[in-house]
Amino acid sequence: MAASEAACELAARAGLELRRCDDGALALIGDGMVLRADLARLLPRLRADRLGRELLVRAARVRGVAAPTAVDATAGLGEDSVLLAAAGFTVTLYERDPVIAALLRDGLERAANEPQLADAVGRMRPVEGDSVAGLRSLDFTPDVVFLDPMFPARTKGAAVKKKFQLLHQLERPCADEAELLDAALAAHPRKVVIKRPPKGAWLAGVKPSHSLTGKAVRYDVIVPPQVG
Ligand SMILES: C[S@@+](CC[C@H](N)C(=O)[O-])C[C@H]1O[C@@H](n2cnc3c(N)ncnc32)[C@H](O)[C@@H]1O
Repeated sequence: MAASEAACELAARAGLELRRCDDGALALIGDGMVLRADLARLLPRLRADRLGRELLVRAARVRGVAAPTAVDATAGLGEDSVLLAAAGFTVTLYERDPVIAALLRDGLERAANEPQLADAVGRMRPVEGDSVAGLRSLDFTPDVVFLDPMFPARTKGAAVKKKFQLLHQLERPCADEAELLDAALAAHPRKVVIKRPPKGAWLAGVKPSHSLTGKAVRYDVIVPPQVG
């Protein structure tokens, strides 16, 4: 599928180029870097003997649900979502940036042709648009809402990983954190799972029910009181 003209124009405005590479993959190109959605990169982490140990999978786990559903409200290139989908979740992925949404759709289309990814990718539904509005008009009650609003920030001594450098050129500031969290809670999930840096502040200052902390990342889990 061709990337929309609007997405190409947006990339150009950031001084970047969005185009197909020789192998047919859509890529964002600039400053000597090439970025594409590459879900196959995650394959080692999706192996049955490793997936259950992934912190995100442990944080999102819901007991007693045969076909759990999740909304990834900040989808990016879909790397976290593919972990959830491989763990059995049907995931609706909202991405509001048209360039990133185009890369994501292309990554999912290519991954659907990879036998080891096809099953998980078959449970991933990308939606281009703002999740704050999307979460308030869902036609189902998700078991989990996942939030990962910010690409890692530039910090003094640490160079930002290459793949994030291009995305930083596109990124608009995250919608109001409180607005995003309110919309997540308004969808009445069993859990809201929030990805943070290990020592990062709580999203919107809201204390989680519990957290799972790894070396590079922390997952804050909010378990809202269940109604009915
Ligand atoms: C840190 S990235 C997510 C990375 C993702 N977890 C992954 O595994 O690739 C955050 C993404 O959320 C998107 N975003 C932020 N606020 C959003 C909103 N309100 N609705 C939809 N997308 C949003 C940004 O455009 C950005 O692509």
